[in-house]
Amino acid sequence: MLPSINWILGLGLLSANVVRSVELSEHAQSLFDQSMSFQDQIYDPEASYLRYFYYPLAAGPHETRSTVWYSIGLLQRNQGDDVKEAVKILENVIGDQEKNTTVQWYGDYTVYPEQPTVGSAAYAPVIYNSWDPNWRGFIGTALIIIYEEFGNLLPTNVQNLILESLRNNTIGDTYRVGGVDGDNLYPAYSNAWLMRTVASSWTGLKLNDSNMTTSGDTWAQEFLDLFDRNNTLSEFNGPTYAGVSLYALTIAAKYLSSTDSIIGQNAKRVIQNIWDYESLLWNPNMRNFAGPWDRSYGYDMNNYVAIMSEWIWALIGKERVWRYSSPIATMTHADDFELAPVIAVLSEFHKSLLPKPVISRLKTFVGEHTYTGHTYAPPADYEPRNITTWVSANLTIGTDSFNQSVVGGYSEDSRSFSPSVVQWIRPGGSIGYFNLYPTETALKADVAPYALNLTYPLGNTTSSFTFVLASNPLGSKRDIAGFDDVDGLKIEVVGGTVDPVPTISFCGLVGGTCDIIHDFEFWNLTFSMPANSSDVPSIQFKFTLE
Ligand SMILES: *[C@@H]1O[C@H](CO)[C@@H](O)[C@H](O)[C@H]1NC(C)=O
Ligand SMILES: *[C@@H]1O[C@H](CO)[C@@H](O)[C@H](O)[C@H]1NC(C)=O
Ligand SMILES: *[C@@H]1O[C@H](CO)[C@@H](O)[C@H](O)[C@H]1NC(C)=O
Ligand SMILES: *[C@@H]1O[C@H](CO)[C@@H](O)[C@H](O)[C@H]1NC(C)=O
Ligand SMILES: *[C@@H]1O[C@H](CO)[C@@H](O)[C@H](O)[C@H]1NC(C)=O
Ligand SMILES: *[C@@H]1O[C@H](CO)[C@@H](O)[C@H](O)[C@H]1NC(C)=O
Ligand SMILES: *[C@@H]1O[C@H](CO)[C@@H](O)[C@H](O)[C@H]1NC(C)=O
Ligand SMILES: *[C@@H]1O[C@H](CO)[C@@H](O)[C@H](O)[C@H]1NC(C)=O
Ligand SMILES: *[C@@H]1O[C@H](CO)[C@@H](O)[C@H](O)[C@H]1NC(C)=O
Ligand SMILES: *[C@@H]1O[C@H](CO)[C@@H](O)[C@H](O)[C@H]1NC(C)=O
Ligand SMILES: *[C@@H]1O[C@H](CO)[C@@H](O)[C@H](O)[C@H]1NC(C)=O
Ligand SMILES: *[C@@H]1O[C@H](CO)[C@@H](O)[C@H](O)[C@H]1NC(C)=O
Repeated sequence: MLPSINWILGLGLLSANVVRSVELSEHAQSLFDQSMSFQDQIYDPEASYLRYFYYPLAAGPHETRSTVWYSIGLLQRNQGDDVKEAVKILENVIGDQEKNTTVQWYGDYTVYPEQPTVGSAAYAPVIYNSWDPNWRGFIGTALIIIYEEFGNLLPTNVQNLILESLRNNTIGDTYRVGGVDGDNLYPAYSNAWLMRTVASSWTGLKLNDSNMTTSGDTWAQEFLDLFDRNNTLSEFNGPTYAGVSLYALTIAAKYLSSTDSIIGQNAKRVIQNIWDYESLLWNPNMRNFAGPWDRSYGYDMNNYVAIMSEWIWALIGKERVWRYSSPIATMTHADDFELAPVIAVLSEFHKSLLPKPVISRLKTFVGEHTYTGHTYAPPADYEPRNITTWVSANLTIGTDSFNQSVVGGYSEDSRSFSPSVVQWIRPGGSIGYFNLYPTETALKADVAPYALNLTYPLGNTTSSFTFVLASNPLGSKRDIAGFDDVDGLKIEVVGGTVDPVPTISFCGLVGGTCDIIHDFEFWNLTFSMPANSSDVPSIQFKFTLE
């Protein structure tokens, strides 16, 4: 029997669609599938938005940025109504894009579609709260991927809408000036700076707008002036934000490398340089980047969702990134799992840029080594931060020395800035951590195998050293009254000017005397100076694996 014409046409369409999707490796496909199956469950087709899966969880509302990421997943999957839903999403999100050119958030998108009008009497414009300036960068770069990879699945009017959205987005993003109107977008804010740079460069080329390409090139050069000092991101070794910087750079490498845009010409090299040091800091036995972390959303990557974990999953597989098998969407910071379809779509191209030694260092521990480097993030940094990280099979010690204008690093957040990080593998395989919680503007840190010395050059008798210490794993001691109770690592105070006996408190999920940090509970060990001491505050440790 001859197949019907419809059948042949259907087949033709199907194979054309398959060709249009990006080819995914087995690892990238599993990342894609696990993220999409979660997102499918929270997609609301009546609203054409994902339900709000962010902080705090919300009763009813939807969420904008993750919905745009999901639309990339829909276009890549391209089954059933996927493309139709993606079109509705794009029309809705761009429909709500800010159109008033005089406001600071011009060209930005909503945080969530039900929100009151930003700038109305009841809803003051509060940067990073009622509106988020980085949403231009996140959504703008996602729109570029949609246009480049899936444009031919979209009606012409939607393709044009994307370009119009990017035009306004890019113009609105020029309103951002570090230090003005509460904004902090300086070249050292690597991830956000790169997204703006890439969006402006791409959009300028597409629209023949030399203002945009010139801005993109100027911003690219300002980024490189910092990066090239030591081939390091100013926003150094953040398990979440290094992943965003790599995302933006991958877009530049993929779509702009054949143009004369400065970011396009440099993206591949910068990506390689980032992985050069990240692969030296990665400890495959621990499934963690050794410290220091400029900005992190947790203390053990096995127990939260970081964007770098998604990249590594796409490159070498999930089991090399997460030790535990619970669904990723049940972990803390799981909202970033909504980016996974986008990472998957870019990952094959991304992998093609990486030298072989990088991949092998991610897979197998290369042996004990020490990384030394430096990075510079003005205006927070008065001088470059010096990084030393000793990485051994089962114990890592990573620090930076800094002298800054603020407490808590560039983002002025001691809860996410971890300038001194000790991690070890405990009996049973879980990860212990013992990290400095920053309370001072300057730190001098010296690392050697099994040893760490910390000094506050600007401190005085009122200074104290607070450490975030992991709770012991189930089955080990429940209470910590001193270092003897710590599982798997002998920690000794061997010198310094502090009182060597710490004050110990517990910062717990439902009790204790202090708050959990990024959903991690911990023991707070605080070392104080003797009263009226005139010494420079310091503490010296020796560590022994047990
Ligand atoms: C644009 O915003 C400005 C400043 O808030 C306001 O005065 C003006 O009325 C707005 N324009 C429109 C068309 O809403
Ligand atoms: C772009 O901004 C202009 C105002 O400059 C506005 O008229 C237009 O509707 C905006 N386009 C989109 C897609 O928001
Ligand atoms: C940009 O310029 C090129 C060649 O100069 C032209 O083909 C293209 O149509 C222009 N695009 C726009 C959006 O003006
Ligand atoms: C470029 O910027 C100048 C100065 O701000 C402005 O006059 C001009 O209209 C802009 N050009 C485009 C194409 O937006
Ligand atoms: C980075 O700086 C460190 C010293 O902080 C130096 O040993 C290393 O060679 C530098 N690397 C590059 C690529 O500049
Ligand atoms: C690291 O720990 C593993 C068990 O988790 C053990 O087999 C190995 O010998 C340890 N390596 C070193 C260098 O201590
Ligand atoms: C980092 O090292 C450089 C070169 O040795 C030095 O000039 C600078 O003061 C150091 N920075 C800090 C914060 O200690
Ligand atoms: C930190 O930087 C400031 C400003 O440059 C400088 O005055 C001060 O001496 C530096 N402090 C240390 C401990 O290096
Ligand atoms: C820590 O300080 C002690 C005492 O000054 C010194 O002997 C040791 O070498 C230092 N360790 C490091 C890692 O700098
Ligand atoms: C110690 O340093 C703090 C912070 O710089 C300052 O407020 C305080 O006055 C200093 N105390 C003494 C006793 O010097
Ligand atoms: C740690 O405990 C000290 C009291 O010993 C307290 O002042 C400080 O706020 C606590 N820090 C954190 C991060 O919980
Ligand atoms: C610290 O100095 C204050 C006044 O300078 C004094 O009252 C107090 O007794 C001193 N404390 C100790 C422990 O020496």
